[in-house]
Amino acid sequence: MECGAWGTLSAGIIDARDEKKSAAKKLGVAGIIDLSSIVSSSLERWETGIGEIDRVLGGGIVPGSLVLLSGEPGIGKSTLVAQIAGALSSKKDKPCQAIYVSGEESAAQVKSRLDRLPGGAGQLKFISETSVEKITAAAILSKPNILIIDSIQTVYSSLIPAEAGGITQIRAAAVKFLELAKEHDIAVMLIGHITKDGQIAGPKSLEHIVDTVLYLENESNQNYCLLRAAKNRFGSVNELGVLEMTGAGFLEVANPSLVFVDNTVQDISGSAIGCVLEGTRPFLVDMQALVTKTVFGYPQRKASGFDLNRLQVLSAVISKRTKINLTSQDIILNVVGGLKISDPALDLAACAAIIASQLNKNIDRQTMVLGEVGLGAEIRNVSKLEQRLQEAARLGFKQVIIPKSRPPKLSGLAAKLELILVKDLNDLVEIIK
Ligand code: TYD
Ligand code: MG
Repeated sequence: MECGAWGTLSAGIIDARDEKKSAAKKLGVAGIIDLSSIVSSSLERWETGIGEIDRVLGGGIVPGSLVLLSGEPGIGKSTLVAQIAGALSSKKDKPCQAIYVSGEESAAQVKSRLDRLPGGAGQLKFISETSVEKITAAAILSKPNILIIDSIQTVYSSLIPAEAGGITQIRAAAVKFLELAKEHDIAVMLIGHITKDGQIAGPKSLEHIVDTVLYLENESNQNYCLLRAAKNRFGSVNELGVLEMTGAGFLEVANPSLVFVDNTVQDISGSAIGCVLEGTRPFLVDMQALVTKTVFGYPQRKASGFDLNRLQVLSAVISKRTKINLTSQDIILNVVGGLKISDPALDLAACAAIIASQLNKNIDRQTMVLGEVGLGAEIRNVSKLEQRLQEAARLGFKQVIIPKSRPPKLSGLAAKLELILVKDLNDLVEIIK
């Protein structure tokens, strides 16, 4: 553009602060809320009636929340959400309206899965669609309580010029569903696939967007699946749900202690039973160790279900502080049942299994071992000891090996347990010998 006249251009200074001020005026100002004026109410929750799932969720699904369920293909994610939706939509007192969106399976496939499940299809509605815009529009029109997206990798937003399943698309779609959840008070459950080689970039990149992240895992290819919360804005993340896959969907395993400890196995040297506390619930774990002479090179340490660094520390402590020398021994430590755990209270059970294997001794299957092991081989207290001992007593254990430092006050069934108090690892070696 030209003004056509000479000498009309004049210099001027633009103050950036003035620009900002006028921009703020245009945008308006964020409202300030006095938090003391808000009456805090306990969150409403929809219980699925499947105890293990409800506990992991922190009591049920929160209306308007965004939940991500991740897991390897074929592990049972679709089955789990179908069961949740079926249970919620067929509730007698207050049925929730649920819509199941699938970009992977047809209505007939989803229906045939639902027919196998105990709750059946209930009042569940179905959408076969992959466009985020169309799905959200349908949800806004029919206003369901719960919207299930199976899976986030198959949906795409037409506003984003990228392929479905890519990080950009996955994030854009998740943000769209977040808006839908918060603005229209619809609980949205997203399913996210994780590939077998552990490539979790897709679902992982969504974790900061969603309210709750659940993982469905199956470590040992048995029928048991573990449901864990990796993040939960509405509950604790320590809870662990144990579910069994049957011909009619998932069943809750109310007594997981019996799953992870095989009581039919007797008289194998090198195994010890401990107890972990995942969230509010204690359950037993069976630690198995195999100690063999190193044939060549450095001694090997292998752990499955147990932290390898911790195993290295514990074997060093045993070698240094007791008469048991493991410096030229290979050690394999296994948590039976494929559970992955990191509870310091299992240190002593791990040491007991290792020492028993090296000495070729059995530890009685009616004995539970609990305690944290320090670098000086001293045995330290464990948290919630009384609760763990109650579980031992409930399952018929006779003896417990526990730290000497704080003898527990026991009542009821647990009062009958024979307590063996140990001060350090040498006490433990004497017991096992
Ligand atoms: P699915 O839920 O489709 O897994 P994902 O959505 O995680 O890929 O199903 C997992 C497996 O469970 C499948 O191989 C079939 C099996 N299954 C049962 O054993 N019992 C059942 O009642 C159902 C519905 C599935
Ligand atoms: Mg599926």
